Amino acid sequence: MSSAVFPIQPINRFAGQSEPVKRPKEFTCYSYDAKGQYRPDDSSIRWYYEPRFLPVDLSKGFDKFVPHDASVDRHLDDLLKTIVRHEKETGKRIDANIVTWRGMMTKIVSAPYEKRDGFEMNATLYRDCIFIEENHAYRKVREEADLQASKARKSAFPIELMSYWGYKFETVSTIPDIWARTSREYIEGRDDMVVNNELQYCSVVRTGIGKTILCLGGEVDAMEGVKGGPGEPTKWVEFKTTSEIRNDRDRGYFQEKLLKYWVQSFLLGVPKIAVGFRDRKGMLVSIEEIETQSIPQSVPRDLWDGDTCINFASAFLDWLRQTITDEGVWRIRREPGAPNIELFKVEEVGHGRIITDEFMDWR
Ligand code: A3P
Ligand code: MG
Ligand code: MG
Repeated sequence: MSSAVFPIQPINRFAGQSEPVKRPKEFTCYSYDAKGQYRPDDSSIRWYYEPRFLPVDLSKGFDKFVPHDASVDRHLDDLLKTIVRHEKETGKRIDANIVTWRGMMTKIVSAPYEKRDGFEMNATLYRDCIFIEENHAYRKVREEADLQASKARKSAFPIELMSYWGYKFETVSTIPDIWARTSREYIEGRDDMVVNNELQYCSVVRTGIGKTILCLGGEVDAMEGVKGGPGEPTKWVEFKTTSEIRNDRDRGYFQEKLLKYWVQSFLLGVPKIAVGFRDRKGMLVSIEEIETQSIPQSVPRDLWDGDTCINFASAFLDWLRQTITDEGVWRIRREPGAPNIELFKVEEVGHGRIITDEFMDWR
């Protein structure tokens, strides 16, 4: 079989007690430095330390912004490189059934309640493990379409500036070391610092949903305290900016967004989300800390249900593993708002560009 469909709807078949989710454990990590260069370590980790004064103008410094160049397709290269390094160091192979980005799993887990966006991924089976990357060409097309749509809407602020607000919030809320080792000049000068979006710390974790063991790589924004030892949890912090809540309609909109916040964070074991509320002009007016695990109980069940998401993902992953059983490259696709996920072969043999030569030579 080289094509198949997994229905998302009706989602009530996924309701009920949730399948087990393994507590994510980081087993390795990597960083990108200020120039976007890969580093096999935790050098780009940041600590959460709130801005000294509010409000903060999140637009400040936009003209000096150093954005990350997302035009090149980096596939799973750096994640695989990191896994190879880990396996060489420990002499043990990872036991995951699926290796992918946290971002891909976020799309899958939240699919039951996603009404608007679609996705496209490429997958290949290699030595009993399925590797899933984002279909970069699709993402580029979507981003361009979003840009054009925002221009057509004549929104008050360009999309580039609004996404800068998110990075600016990270910059004014973090320090490069624990507080006791950070200079006062640094803490007080954060509002004048160049916002550099190349800097990234990526955590690589082992986790599981239902019967599937996952190896996920993803960026974490910051941490608190000291890093947990092997297998020990770390107090990671995720940053999010959102518009201030002024009325019930705003609250409902925010509660919808909490689904993505929750999924994105629990997948890597991030226990806390620092939400920066901004006014309509991009001024950061308040910060609220939310415990990731408390999110599902905090929203009305009819808006979204976390157990449904987990059970859906568990069933989908079982199905994926039963369906992708030979070589070639598969496309995993959901058309925007579609009631199902399609799976079809785009290359009959080999593994496309998903798996690096380095990885294949090692394995
Ligand atoms: P906000 O989430 O505060 O808006 P992340 O939250 O995943 O760490 O991402 C950091 C920031 O990247 C986001 O901050 C936002 O500014 C930008 N960003 C992430 N995904 C985006 C998208 N799909 N479109 C535009 N900007 C995005
Ligand atoms: Mg981030
Ligand atoms: Mg963030």
